[in-house]
Amino acid sequence: MLPFASCLPGSLLLWAFLLLLLGAASPQDPEEPDSYTECTDGYEWDADSQHCRDVNECLTIPEACKGEMKCINHYGGYLCLPRSAAVINDLHGEGPPPPAAHAQQPNPCPQGYEPDEQESCVDVDECTQALHDCRPSQDCHNLPGSYQCTCPDGYRKIGPECVDIDECRYRYCQHRCVNLPGSFRCQCEPGFQLGPNNRSCVDVNECDMGAPCEQRCFNSYGTFLCRCNQGYELHRDGFSCSDIDECGYSSYLCQYRCVNEPGRFSCHCPQGYQLLATRLCQDIDECETGAHQCSEAQTCVNFHGGYRCVDTNRCVEPYVQVSDNRCLCPASNPLCREQPSSIVHRYMSITSERSVPADVFQIQATSVYPGAYNAFQIRSGNTQGDFYIRQINNVSAMLVLARPVTGPREYVLDLEMVTMNSLMSYRASSVLRLTVFVGAYTF
Ligand SMILES: *[C@@H]1O[C@H](CO)[C@@H](O)[C@H](O)[C@H]1NC(C)=O
Ligand SMILES: *[C@@H]1O[C@H](CO)[C@@H](O)[C@H](O)[C@H]1NC(C)=O
Repeated sequence: MLPFASCLPGSLLLWAFLLLLLGAASPQDPEEPDSYTECTDGYEWDADSQHCRDVNECLTIPEACKGEMKCINHYGGYLCLPRSAAVINDLHGEGPPPPAAHAQQPNPCPQGYEPDEQESCVDVDECTQALHDCRPSQDCHNLPGSYQCTCPDGYRKIGPECVDIDECRYRYCQHRCVNLPGSFRCQCEPGFQLGPNNRSCVDVNECDMGAPCEQRCFNSYGTFLCRCNQGYELHRDGFSCSDIDECGYSSYLCQYRCVNEPGRFSCHCPQGYQLLATRLCQDIDECETGAHQCSEAQTCVNFHGGYRCVDTNRCVEPYVQVSDNRCLCPASNPLCREQPSSIVHRYMSITSERSVPADVFQIQATSVYPGAYNAFQIRSGNTQGDFYIRQINNVSAMLVLARPVTGPREYVLDLEMVTMNSLMSYRASSVLRLTVFVGAYTF
């Protein structure tokens, strides 16, 4: 048996040609090789080069050519030629075609085809029959009459081998590119994700995707920002919000007491006051609002932070009441001779710690006699000298607070007006009994 299978491309042509040349060698039909796992017949595996190496049959087969024939080794086979024959080196070239009469079983089919049982030419699938020389890195594609070695997608032929194309060199990706064997993958910076074309990067709306903002989230290009509601401030971690202690920031937020609450603060006022315009405290006039407990026989007197019920009839013997707040000592009563002729009750309220001196109450003579002179003095109730009288003219005077006083406390001051007429030796005295309430607060 003569092995003529070849590892070379176009081997069928060579094979056919050899058949034509092998006149005396009586070749048989080449058999299909038993195994393609190693080398086809006529070749042997060379471990050094990791390739199939041609076997020199002229040396290995005893009496490869009989008689007068000479043995010519050839890739995948050998030739027996008459000693006189010239060796044809270029088997593909213009060598003289042997006479057709000498050919035995010539392949009647064109290159890449072989006859089937019906003697018609069918394509040889070089790829499945291992009749190709595609490299392991290449794909073999059978074609009518031939085959093609191509590189897989993402590979490029450089020399005999297919090498991976580094697509990343071509800037296909907007952000980052990762080259992979046969392909590539685009990646995006944090805060972005691949767009539908798998190359461009589009902003991720982290706010819609569970960004860890405790209160408010604002998406921005490539990132996001956390913000807090009013009354909260962003924690150093950038995500969580903590309540602002507004009360700790300023002691002027509230006139009386500031109470911090989550996200806000509120002002509170002491009892007897109501909140005015969120921060100020305003005295409640219980006498006006009707929130007092005074009886019919009493008069309600409001002061800063509270009220007082006073008996409407405040006149003490020998005085008799002549009006709601006026008591008269009748001249007919001998007990009245050394007493002020009248006592008028008045009430007023001041706040604590007023800056001094402060005019607090003006006294005015109601009846003026021609040629008379009025003198004013504090008759009682000013033991500590907290007040003094400043005379304005002969009919009026001002009660002046001399020291800053702190409540709650109250004074009952008898302000006396002495009316004198030296010509007529006339002297009369009347008293204004002024109750001064000092509230507990400066408001
Ligand atoms: C993008 O990649 C996905 C996942 O690999 C794939 O299903 C999709 O077809 C790709 N789109 C484009 C336009 O290549
Ligand atoms: C006091 O004032 C009254 C009214 O103005 C006046 O009639 C009287 O003469 C004055 N007396 C003195 C002593 O100035």
